Amino acid sequence: MTGRLTVIGLGPGHAAQITPEASAALADAELLLGYAPYLARVPERPGQRREPTDNREEIARASAALMAAAAGDRVAMVSGGDPGVFAMAAAVCEAIEHGPPQWRAIDVVILPGITAMLAVAARVGAPLGADFCAISLSDNLKPWDLVRQRLAAVAQAGFVIALYNPISRARPWQLGEAFALLADLLPPETPVIFGRAAGRPDERIAIVPLCEADAAMADMATCVIIGSAHTRIIARPDGPALVYSPRSVRPSA
Ligand SMILES: C[S@@+](CC[C@H](N)C(=O)[O-])C[C@H]1O[C@@H](n2cnc3c(N)ncnc32)[C@H](O)[C@@H]1O
Repeated sequence: MTGRLTVIGLGPGHAAQITPEASAALADAELLLGYAPYLARVPERPGQRREPTDNREEIARASAALMAAAAGDRVAMVSGGDPGVFAMAAAVCEAIEHGPPQWRAIDVVILPGITAMLAVAARVGAPLGADFCAISLSDNLKPWDLVRQRLAAVAQAGFVIALYNPISRARPWQLGEAFALLADLLPPETPVIFGRAAGRPDERIAIVPLCEADAAMADMATCVIIGSAHTRIIARPDGPALVYSPRSVRPSA
């Protein structure tokens, strides 16, 4: 008998930001797998098994989930944010593509969640209101030269840029290099938003101009949004500023 593998996005961290669809699937699972801090967000239920994993070896994790599903379990693999954004859904697809043919018969369901850039953007206004892109700054799975090329291309094309995985102990210098590269391509006053742990009790949001953006303001729980030349800041007397990217761009004369 073949079971089911449901890959579930838990959103950025606040319980109210888990979708009802994801909650129902979590309640229905027999076996829960995922990085321990994500699993800790899921209420325990009698009769359910859970197996925390570390946050590396994603293909091994995906393969373990697929093996359990192939053996007949209803397996839930949990992911922070959205499982399709720099997360486990792609690892599961990759494991299926390269795994045994019988894994292709497994019922695989991907349930979306609120991804970090949306949670951070909503905290400050609408910086993603115009054309934008998301780039993982991690060079674990792709060469740094390619990251640089993509950053330059999207900055020159006028996209707002959401940076995931901006910095870590093993990758301490890449974010500083990204800011230096972007400083040559964008106006110095371009708004940069550092959104840390959005939706969690330790949330911290900061907005600075690109010329003052410092990699030390980010950690691995931060999503950095870099505006385009059109992104604006509205100061308000009694509340935090609003940052937004207007939807309209006038044709250049
Ligand atoms: C491996 S990626 C996973 C992204 C996740 N699947 C999502 O959709 O948000 C991890 C990165 O997501 C970002 N991130 C995840 N949760 C966040 C949060 N609550 N606030 C800000 N950034 C977050 C950080 O850039 C972090 O380094």
